[in-house]
Amino acid sequence: MSETLENLSSETRQFPPPAELAANANVTAEAYEQAGADRLAFWATQAERLVWAKKWDQVLDWSNPPFAKWFVGGELNIAYNCVDRHVEAGNGDKVAIHWEGEPGDSRTVTYSELLTSVSQAANTLTDLGVVAGDRVMIYLPMIPEAAVAMLACARIGATHSVVFGGFSVDALATRIQDAAAKVVITADGGYRRGKPSALKPTVDEAVARTESIEHVLVVRRTGQDVAWTEKDKWWHETVEQAGTTHDAQPFDAEHPLFILYTSGTTGKPKGILHTTGGYLTQTSYTHHAVFDLKPETDVYWCTADIGWVTGHSYIVYGPLSNGATQVMYEGTPDTPDRGRFWQIVDKYKVSILYTAPTLIRTMMKWGDDIPAKYDLSSLRVLGSVGEPINPEAWMWYREHVGRERTPIVDTWWQTETGAIMISPLPGVTATKPGSAMTALPGISSDVVDDQAQSVPDGGGGFLVLREPWPSMLRTIWGDDKRFLETYWSRFGAGSGSSSTEWIYFAGDGAKKDEDGALWLLGRVDDVMLVSGHNISTTEVESALVSHPSVAEAAVVGATDPTTGQAIVAFTIPRGNVETEGEAGEALIQELRNHVSKTLGPIAKPRQIMLVAELPKTRSGKIMRRLLRDVAEKRSLGDVTTLQDSTVMDLISSGMNTAK
Ligand code: WT7
Repeated sequence: MSETLENLSSETRQFPPPAELAANANVTAEAYEQAGADRLAFWATQAERLVWAKKWDQVLDWSNPPFAKWFVGGELNIAYNCVDRHVEAGNGDKVAIHWEGEPGDSRTVTYSELLTSVSQAANTLTDLGVVAGDRVMIYLPMIPEAAVAMLACARIGATHSVVFGGFSVDALATRIQDAAAKVVITADGGYRRGKPSALKPTVDEAVARTESIEHVLVVRRTGQDVAWTEKDKWWHETVEQAGTTHDAQPFDAEHPLFILYTSGTTGKPKGILHTTGGYLTQTSYTHHAVFDLKPETDVYWCTADIGWVTGHSYIVYGPLSNGATQVMYEGTPDTPDRGRFWQIVDKYKVSILYTAPTLIRTMMKWGDDIPAKYDLSSLRVLGSVGEPINPEAWMWYREHVGRERTPIVDTWWQTETGAIMISPLPGVTATKPGSAMTALPGISSDVVDDQAQSVPDGGGGFLVLREPWPSMLRTIWGDDKRFLETYWSRFGAGSGSSSTEWIYFAGDGAKKDEDGALWLLGRVDDVMLVSGHNISTTEVESALVSHPSVAEAAVVGATDPTTGQAIVAFTIPRGNVETEGEAGEALIQELRNHVSKTLGPIAKPRQIMLVAELPKTRSGKIMRRLLRDVAEKRSLGDVTTLQDSTVMDLISSGMNTAK
């Protein structure tokens, strides 16, 4: 990207918050004023929502930037805050987790039961020799034991590192090695798409390849056969037999809570390190504010996997610290059928739903008639996270899921930010479809040009954060240098300029509209340079998805002799659309013209391909890099993180017909 991003689309629809929600909202517009007047005092107030064993002496120590210390001198126990205190307050019988297994089995876990399990797991880990500061890997399906394992680690000050259950031996082994973990907590397997899928063999191989693991704790979930080594212990023969009480000791506010690996576009995965006091303060506050959680009446459901940061912050730490009742689902959205999500919403009367654009677009593709069959009247707040949500997907979510009643909060954040940073507040913000709107109270985001100058309203550029925030990553595990280079060296003091301001570069492009609302435009690596204009793939994708025949689209810039890069689009038509022969050709022309009309001729794709699927990572992000390889007719690069390895064959073979 040279200077700024073109600002092509213009969205005029706007939805004010429902009056009743606004009148009873947890957080009002006053929060922005308070935080604006004194940011640190604002965060100190939010920290007081937690129980501290020892109060902090200083809210923020930024004397050694960009290494932040929040709530310096404070001490607390995270598990105590997420579990014990709710039981002590008389809410022991309240449901913490309504768990739904993929095959249709279910379990209910109350806060008292959660306390017992977490205490037992803490006792077992201690018996296995785990002490504060040790690292514990967690490689589990979406079962309550995943939350129990994380909380048990937090309770004894062990640093957990959750690895998504779909990851390979290589991925697990690299992470075990990097973290030098002592224990792995896993299961025999989990259910996926109606079948048991094994986890233990992956662990066995990863443990054999590495040196640090002393014990493996195995939950029995599927009952499938497992090989057994001398390091293995069954969860039900240890944890479930252990003492049921455990005295939680407080830890320093900056005690390491977890490492979560995120794979960058290049190089080995980065171990993002989060600590205790600031992380819990911001996850807890944002969960309360952004979802307007009323713990007495709401049923909350975040559909993420615990292996992603969304699962950490908005299944475990945020909701449980707030004493929420939540749904946890083990499986896929189309098992046994495509109505599964809506059946779960109906069954548990879910009132707050937090999911990802990739899922919303999949549901759009499956058809409006599916959600229409279910009673979704319990829903009152809808959330989105993970990618820019196209205006049309946003509108579909509002219409077919929210039934035009519920506000949508599009929440921007990252593994690195730990908690939500940019989002509407459901009782305050008049939302625009496709915009994450504004930074939350206490957060300083901005959009800047090459020179770190703020772009005016109407302009586009790089998304940055100008002030430290409580749940920020503290470093990359074992690699302070990479931490500095990756996030702090592009702009401000860290770039070697004369500036004294430390500016965090998020890696995303964004624009500010005429009202100052923020529109996320995807990773800057995905920006295309067409005839000297920086064009965001997100905007072209949204224009395509706004056509009634399109369910999903991915856009890449391919090398072009005349324009530098040319826009190539891969498009999934909606279910009922005719795409064979001439009808397909006509649709392609119509779509090219549609983009040209919507965004201007500069954004007209050179080529559009109609495809059945798109290559996605296991967390649902489109792998544009692979599509670029296809568009430029190169052999495919690394495909190991693909969710479904057959997708690329499908796309490559379909290429000749759809041109
Ligand atoms: C990247 C971070 C945050 C938890 C899940 C992803 C993209 C995330 C949004 C959003 C536009 C978004 C960004 C960001 N992203 N949320 N609401 N609108 N883009 O965590 O894997 O660390 O990915 O996801 O590109 O940088 P992650």
